[in-house]
Amino acid sequence: MQELQQILDQALQQFAVIGDETELEQVKAKFLGKEGSLTALLKGLGKLSAEERPAAGARINQVKQGIEAALQQRRDALQQNKLAQKLAAESLDVTLPGRGMCAGGLHPVTRTLERIEQLFHSLGFATASGPEIESDFYNFTALNIPENHPARAMHDTFYIDPQHVLRTHTSPVQVRYMEANQPPLKIISAGRVYRVDSDATHSPMFHQVEGLWVDETISFANLKGVVQDFLQRFFERDDLQVRFRPSFFPFTEPSAEMDMSWNGGWLEIGGCGMVHPNVLKHVNIDSEKYLGFAFGLGVERLAMLRYGVSDLRQFYESDLRFLKQFN
Ligand code: PHE
Repeated sequence: MQELQQILDQALQQFAVIGDETELEQVKAKFLGKEGSLTALLKGLGKLSAEERPAAGARINQVKQGIEAALQQRRDALQQNKLAQKLAAESLDVTLPGRGMCAGGLHPVTRTLERIEQLFHSLGFATASGPEIESDFYNFTALNIPENHPARAMHDTFYIDPQHVLRTHTSPVQVRYMEANQPPLKIISAGRVYRVDSDATHSPMFHQVEGLWVDETISFANLKGVVQDFLQRFFERDDLQVRFRPSFFPFTEPSAEMDMSWNGGWLEIGGCGMVHPNVLKHVNIDSEKYLGFAFGLGVERLAMLRYGVSDLRQFYESDLRFLKQFN
């Protein structure tokens, strides 16, 4: 009986100082395991007389229950501790200052494109689009630029294969749109174009806006009115002037370069002309009945002027110090 009390005391003492669950299970084995001290006493019950046995058995069981209860208590305590530690480690200091929100912004070229589209929509133009990988036919032939025509050399073309190019201008969209729609037609088409060219004012990829208006009584005067109205609104300058210089494009006749007044001088901003009868013929529009004008504007040029950017390449360097200024 004395030994039993000792075992219980020992067990309670030892459990109380254990700080780890695996160790607790190991110490438990010292008392209740196969080779444990309490187990040894249970085995010894057989040696007692029939009268002594029940009382001894009951006492051993009591001690066993006492040990198990202490064990369970200790287990619970250890688990509580562990949880408390975990919670403390994962806690957030809600009094720390926040990181602040970083709002993104639209790229200046995207902003410019959206502004251009919005202004032309207000002038009654719809939008159209075409593929950037274009067939040689749409990029050149259908625009009255036959094979071996020297005008093909004007465009420093990226060829994908002998029949496909990265479009060198947005003019092929004119052809695609006229193939699919009957006049009157009044569209713009903005998008990427590609040329083998790269310096402070040229990028191998840049953007153009194509305009096309085909109807029975369209003239050069309409062209000038539309372009000038657009530019005056785009730059928010009522006194902005547009002037035309005679030029050549195979798909327009007559053709002109467009300049706008800027800081007391003139700046070139694109090409234009009246749609060539051969182009209309390709798409089965009667050139005796219908007339149209077309123009192509350089988007980066407009963005550079509007935002005062002097090097075109800054648009494509993804330098946040530059881009953040447009947020
Ligand atoms: N596509 C021509 C260019 O890229 C511009 C243009 C468009 C000229 C429409 C006339 C009519 O140079």
